[in-house]
Amino acid sequence: MSTGTLVSPHGGSLVDRFVSEGDRAALLEQAASLPKITLSFKQACDLEMIAIGAFSPLTGFVGKADFEGICRDMRLADGTVWPIPITLAVEDDVKATLSEGSQAALHHPDGTLLAVIDVEELYAHDKDLEIPNVFRTEDEAHPGVAAVKAEGDWLVGGPIHVLTVLPEHEPGEQFTEYRLRPAQTRDAFTAKGWKTIAAFQTRNPIHRAHEYLCKCATEICDGLLIHPLVGETKPGDIPADVRMDCYTTIIEHYFVEERTILSVMPAAMRYAGPREAVLHALIRQNYGVSHFIVGRDHAGVGDYYGTYDAQNIFDDFAAGDIDIIPLKFEHAAYSIKAQGMVSAKTFPKLEGDQIFLSGTKVRDMLAKGERPPGEFSRPEVADVLIKWATSEVTAGA
Ligand code: ADX
Ligand code: MG
Repeated sequence: MSTGTLVSPHGGSLVDRFVSEGDRAALLEQAASLPKITLSFKQACDLEMIAIGAFSPLTGFVGKADFEGICRDMRLADGTVWPIPITLAVEDDVKATLSEGSQAALHHPDGTLLAVIDVEELYAHDKDLEIPNVFRTEDEAHPGVAAVKAEGDWLVGGPIHVLTVLPEHEPGEQFTEYRLRPAQTRDAFTAKGWKTIAAFQTRNPIHRAHEYLCKCATEICDGLLIHPLVGETKPGDIPADVRMDCYTTIIEHYFVEERTILSVMPAAMRYAGPREAVLHALIRQNYGVSHFIVGRDHAGVGDYYGTYDAQNIFDDFAAGDIDIIPLKFEHAAYSIKAQGMVSAKTFPKLEGDQIFLSGTKVRDMLAKGERPPGEFSRPEVADVLIKWATSEVTAGA
């Protein structure tokens, strides 16, 4: 595959695990007689990421040597950088139906048959190795830790053969027109003649600080990929469909449409801070992106990570390990004196000068139908959120 002038996919080539039209009927027939594994939503997200090549060079769920290399050294067994194990965990009763060298059918939580896996390895899920290494904590209050603890005690490793990645009856949740695969974002960048592209990862509405990061990055790159994560997130995060309304609204009013592409990224959130920042960067490299925005506490939750840990981790790698360039941003906020967005790198800290609002405070305002100040959120975005927050209050009453 020609990647033109864009960055090469991680590991060298873009993975595509969809079966060809010609092999479809045979695989469907085969799947009917195989033991069945019903995926969790997180696993279904991972399956889609593998299938479309967003997790290149992975061709399936990881085996034992890769699992251990990832947890211990952030590397696959062959030395390629990979920070978080992409696992297929199953419970004892499911494990009893499987054997190494056989296959299994993978189903979406709603029952749809998605894929077949070659069960190359069946091994114990070493959560004591995974959790402290990946999350830097074993606290069950951490949503990523809790998710791994709740998973099965066995891991299935092997390549997948994919029929489809999404059930057909949920088009409203799928953002089909924004669901570009890595090969498609690469084509889109090439069609626009972009050589340097900055990607912005988010699981929130775009507020003024996010917008500032995006604008700074666009000043030094040819184009911007706004790339919200729409896979599994924790309760309390704003639903992806509401966020999509926020993104299209802010792009319409405050971004240059020719310089901006909005597309969704279907991974599940782990809240693993530094290691997830590396994963997020490698994913964007696969999508053809040259520069990746990493701000304060990227992919963090609570107080588990230092403000800039997710930036510093990139310094631990050697040249050639990761080809995408991290764009590191200090904590940004609106300064009343400067009348604009600033960080500690660009404007002196003055007592009471910067507008800070806690998530809880913003949520309270929105639920009461009040717009947060324009220095925090654009009014058009606030209105989308107010509409959602007030209907949520009514629905809950
Ligand atoms: S997440 O993936 O990191 O969980 P989030 O939506 O919270 O998504 O943040 C998106 C990106 O913006 C991350 O790179 C984060 O570090 C950065 N960011 C968010 N708020 C700020 C801020 N006030 N200043 C600098 N960077 C920020
Ligand atoms: Mg954050």
